[in-house]
Amino acid sequence: MGKQQRSIGNQYQFRLEGFEEEEEMAVEKNVRNIDPTLDDGFAPVSQEVFQSIDADAEKAGGAWEEPEEYVGSIGRTMFDTPSSKDNSLTVLLPRESMEKAPSQSLVRIKSRDGRSYLGVVIEGPFAEPDGIRGDSPIVVTTTVKGGIFMPKFHGRVQVEILGEEDESGMLVPPRFRPLPNSPVFALNSCETANVLKLEGDIRLGLAVGHENLEVRIPSDRKSVLPRHVGILGTTGGGKSTTVSGLIYSLQKAGIATVLIDTEGEYTMINEQTTDRTMIAALDRRGLKPDGVQNTHIYHLVGRETTNPGHHPKTSFCIKFDKLSPYLVMELLELNEPQETRYLKAYDITRRVLQDLRISPQAGEDPSRFFELDEMEEGYPQMTLEQIYDIITACAQIIDKAEDGIEFHSKEFRNRKDDVIAAIKRAINADSSKKSEGSLPGVVSSWRALQGKIGRIRRLKIFDNPDAKPLNYRDLTRPGQVSIIDLSDTDSPRINNLVIAEILRGIQEQQDRNYVEAEKAGRQPNRTIVVIEEAHEFLSAERIKQMPVLFQQVARIARRGRKRWLGLVFVTQLPQHLPDEVLGLINNFILHKIADAGVINRLKRSVSGIDESLWSRLPGLAPGQAIVSMAGMTRPLLVAIDPTPCKLRMVD
Ligand SMILES: Nc1ncnc2c1ncn2[C@@H]1O[C@H](COP(=O)(O)OP(=O)(O)OP(=O)(O)O)[C@@H](O)[C@H]1O
Ligand SMILES: [Mg+2]
Repeated sequence: MGKQQRSIGNQYQFRLEGFEEEEEMAVEKNVRNIDPTLDDGFAPVSQEVFQSIDADAEKAGGAWEEPEEYVGSIGRTMFDTPSSKDNSLTVLLPRESMEKAPSQSLVRIKSRDGRSYLGVVIEGPFAEPDGIRGDSPIVVTTTVKGGIFMPKFHGRVQVEILGEEDESGMLVPPRFRPLPNSPVFALNSCETANVLKLEGDIRLGLAVGHENLEVRIPSDRKSVLPRHVGILGTTGGGKSTTVSGLIYSLQKAGIATVLIDTEGEYTMINEQTTDRTMIAALDRRGLKPDGVQNTHIYHLVGRETTNPGHHPKTSFCIKFDKLSPYLVMELLELNEPQETRYLKAYDITRRVLQDLRISPQAGEDPSRFFELDEMEEGYPQMTLEQIYDIITACAQIIDKAEDGIEFHSKEFRNRKDDVIAAIKRAINADSSKKSEGSLPGVVSSWRALQGKIGRIRRLKIFDNPDAKPLNYRDLTRPGQVSIIDLSDTDSPRINNLVIAEILRGIQEQQDRNYVEAEKAGRQPNRTIVVIEEAHEFLSAERIKQMPVLFQQVARIARRGRKRWLGLVFVTQLPQHLPDEVLGLINNFILHKIADAGVINRLKRSVSGIDESLWSRLPGLAPGQAIVSMAGMTRPLLVAIDPTPCKLRMVD
């Protein structure tokens, strides 16, 4: 108001709703020009009247002054209406304060009953004309005619109550509602970061709607990252940028990161970005291009990596004895008759290995051979070659063609007679059945099984002497970034098997690391496994086909929380992730998702995000994301930092 308020008469303040300065002046002039001789039915107001009003005003305490408790406030709470909701209230702002309460900003409400509340702007600020409805015909009509009638206006925001501040400043659940007409104050960035618990050594980006509010997460708190992260969003939303930036920070924080790179997109993150727009975006935030340190590329033996020039680079094989026989059966998609035969062959192979002292060997401690959980891993030292040999031999026995038996595995091939004798003993060991009868018949089923095993055998990724298995001690070393490049496998099933094996191996190593750290009295190693294209690994369909695989992952996820092993699932198809998987995740970075059906599903799994934030998800720009992390007071819309490192373009 201020200067625009025209004084008419003495100190008598008279305000004309909805008129701009010139119009007001014109009216004022007219008032002064009233000719007292004109008989229009109105007599001019006499000076005495004004003087008496002034005297009354003086008696009542003089000109109006803002009460002390309102000084510095940006607005006031409004009365409730029938549409009011618990935990949410309307705050009105004078025109000049509207910019002080942007979306997502925090406010303190000092209720007139003495209580203090903190709240967050979840809707608005909306501009509403003073004293008239924004959609009234006069406003609409004059607006379309060129805005000749431009009323004064004020702001309205909807505030969600975060809690009541007790004497110590702690937020507690509110028991009451702030009273109407209570002053509302804006929090500054520093206070806001404190209240929202945005502290930590890993910077994700800047909160949208705030001047310069950094959103950070702690890399050292067990209650955050080891409770697993989902990075979801449609193609082009910014997931890979977020992932690579996160890995950069995790490495700096001394966390061991293992990245399952199904597309070979991250094999150059050791270099700094050369993308011009990314460099410009980094510059705008005062950040610099930089490569990730301590990267190590691993690829399956016999397969390529997308960055063959990278050092160090190591090929690896999978140890067959680390795979649960049940997982192998899932992988091979065996039907029931084949499963029966596979389990029988597995049992025979185990007995033959024991019988011939191949495993355990003479003098070896046998205890670990008897405490096996076959849902988790296989029999020590059993190879795919051996079980293939046994399956072939069984087929020959059923086919009454024992003479044709040939062995390929290096443990069996030079002791053919011994092995055949051991096979027979193994068959007969099952004394409840007749000697021949304990081996399931039907040669075609045996041959089909042989064919399926033969197929994965030809991949030459199991027990290949040209490569070592992954060294999980290296993978969990602080600050090491292991990029597992699976881009050259062409088989989601093989990838799944490798991922399952890596998770199992890391979990086992992390258990060991934990014990060692406890003994040495130091902090446990922190490890994060990032799984790109997680929908390939853990889709609803896949989980149905491979329940053992999922059980393993779920077990690791649960144990991971205790052992500081965090999983990060990245996918552009969150709709394929079943509720069981979403249920394992407590932290979400949600990039743009346009599909309403997908958003509705996520709403059921991701708690704490209010409707107004959800409604922004379909319209997010690349790099923007709703971030909901364990430990944060509430989710926030964040402009994620551009990545400093180089991503390979994949199509
Ligand atoms: N945080 C960011 N800051 C600036 N630009 C970004 C950011 N994130 C993404 N972009 C822009 O969006 C583009 C796509 O991002 P990105 O490749 O990370 O998406 P994506 O979700 O991984 O996509 P896809 O599903 O295809 O793998 C980037 O090339 C970049 O131009
Ligand atoms: Mg990507």
